[in-house]
Amino acid sequence: MQFVKNLKRTHYCGELTKSHENQEVILMGWVNGRRDHGGLIFLDLRDREGLVQVVIDPNNEHCKTAKNVRGEFVLAILGKVRARPKGMQNSNLRTGEIEVEAQRFEILSEAETPPFQIDDDKVQENLRLKYRYLDLRSLKQQKYLKMRHEVMQVVRKNLTDFGFWEVETPILYKSTPEGARDYLVPSRVHPGNFYALPQSPQTLKQLLMISGFDKYFQIARCFRDEDLRADRQPEFSQIDLEMSFIDQDDIMNLTNKILANIWKQFKKVDIGTIPVMSFLEAMSRYGSDKPDLRIAWELKDLNSELENSGFKVFDDVIARGDCIKALAVPGIGDYSRSHFDKLTAMAKQMGAKGLVWIKQGKDGSFQSPVSKFFTEDKLKQIFTFSGGEAGGGVLIVADSFNVTCSSLGHLRVHLAAELKAINRSEDKFLWVTDFPLLEYVPEEKRWVAVHHPFTAPNDDHLHILEKQEESNYSTIKAKAYDLVCNGYEIAGGSIRIHQQNVQKIIFQALGFSEEEVQRKFGFFNEALSYGTPPHGGIAWGFDRLIMILCETDAIRDVIAFPKTTKAYDLMAEAPGLVDRDQLLELGLRLNTK
Ligand code: AMO
Ligand code: AMP
Repeated sequence: MQFVKNLKRTHYCGELTKSHENQEVILMGWVNGRRDHGGLIFLDLRDREGLVQVVIDPNNEHCKTAKNVRGEFVLAILGKVRARPKGMQNSNLRTGEIEVEAQRFEILSEAETPPFQIDDDKVQENLRLKYRYLDLRSLKQQKYLKMRHEVMQVVRKNLTDFGFWEVETPILYKSTPEGARDYLVPSRVHPGNFYALPQSPQTLKQLLMISGFDKYFQIARCFRDEDLRADRQPEFSQIDLEMSFIDQDDIMNLTNKILANIWKQFKKVDIGTIPVMSFLEAMSRYGSDKPDLRIAWELKDLNSELENSGFKVFDDVIARGDCIKALAVPGIGDYSRSHFDKLTAMAKQMGAKGLVWIKQGKDGSFQSPVSKFFTEDKLKQIFTFSGGEAGGGVLIVADSFNVTCSSLGHLRVHLAAELKAINRSEDKFLWVTDFPLLEYVPEEKRWVAVHHPFTAPNDDHLHILEKQEESNYSTIKAKAYDLVCNGYEIAGGSIRIHQQNVQKIIFQALGFSEEEVQRKFGFFNEALSYGTPPHGGIAWGFDRLIMILCETDAIRDVIAFPKTTKAYDLMAEAPGLVDRDQLLELGLRLNTK
């Protein structure tokens, strides 16, 4: 092989421009396409930087094998860059003003016909995932993973400049409490015992603070066995960080700075000051703890407007001290009854008992399933008070605060997508703070930590825990904060409990027995007693961040080898069966059919 060993590549295909005219270049890459014209062979040669047109004369004695070339063959070409003839330029291509006239040529590798055309975005995703290595050849995928690499470097540089040390923590570890199911790894050396893969390095980074490292970060792989969605993978990456002797503002300010740097570098925009909103306000105004602020619509409180309305559903809810809210949506005045039935079904899925809608048709009249309970004037008054516009509609739910807000919040996002009412010209950030510390899970008849059990309660609410006033647990606020972008939670963190006695009270409130605490967190509890600095941190969902920067809507797109929503690797066929001997060695016997 002349090329590769002796003749070294001089340029990437995609980087050649007019400035290289008349230069001799050596290129190596894949055949993206081939056209034969007037005795000449035209190839698009592709590498990670892009495509370039190569012209080969098969009569040239150094290029004889060119006629055998097909798609995805790997070639080396020595040639001269020349301007394309007038009228033959391609302004869609960075290299579109030039082409390379081949003088020598070698096939480095032949290729079978691939199962799909690289860069064809109509190919079914499962086929692309099975042949992920081919899918990754597309310029789109290469661009995504390049972005991922570059942002990672910026984050590393920023955090290093701010004095953080990158520390790696174990993957074979112990259950960490982030609320999902664990992935377990059986131990051969300790039969019957299991490691758990970390759901996050939460306890480990806190231990590093106890060890005195002061500022830690890690691009950490996390593993969670939970229901998957477009923005959730069973293994994903966090930009995980922790700091000592700091408060909530310090973490938020640091995050703001790094975020601003990333958006300035990769989006060329100044993100300005990020608004801060309490959990209660976000729920009340947008029906979500991660509201998409690119949607302008807000929920409106109707309790006072609907007092003594005469409609039993509303009157009962007000009498119970619950909550009635409306969402005005422009442009749905011509939605059919069955369309509203679908919206009602969605509200019911979110726990609502029904959905009242009022729509205004083109003729100005109002229609509603509750029109028999209200005069036309009253309907109009409610419609207008809710912010309804001519030709639009108003959706009303009456229920507990949580059900009312979250069902309307769900419809808000659904309808904005349906009506294309999301302003995609700008990314919208928001800090959500003052989350509740605890949440009651009726099915399990116990309280769980909304963030995780190491999150510090608001100082003013500590006494509720100390006195074990369970009836007031739902009012306790946490020193926890989430960063939201375009309706995605892209980071979450908290100030931690650094006093062993407070940690003990929290474990108690969460219903852990002494024995359970000892088994699960004994080492951690003990560590807290040896001099723990006040500390706190945050973890960014790195995949979600890249997904937003790449303007796609699935984190699968920005992960090199992702899994399906069934947590399956279609390419490697993992998870898969193992040999009986391997199981025996691990002391395991399967109980599956
Ligand atoms: P949390 O569980 O909120 O916090 O996770 C932090 C961020 O990680 C991202 N994320 C995910 N991304 C992809 N797939 C998933 N399955 C997935 N789950 C979470 C989200 C989320 O905001 N130890 C704490 C952090 C801390 O308190 O410092 C933690 O893991 O973007
Ligand atoms: P009904 O009288 O039960 O037939 O309900 C009349 C209308 O009120 C229907 O459109 C129901 O979907 C709606 N509805 C019932 N309960 C609620 C509720 N809690 N909140 C909002 N709408 C409701």
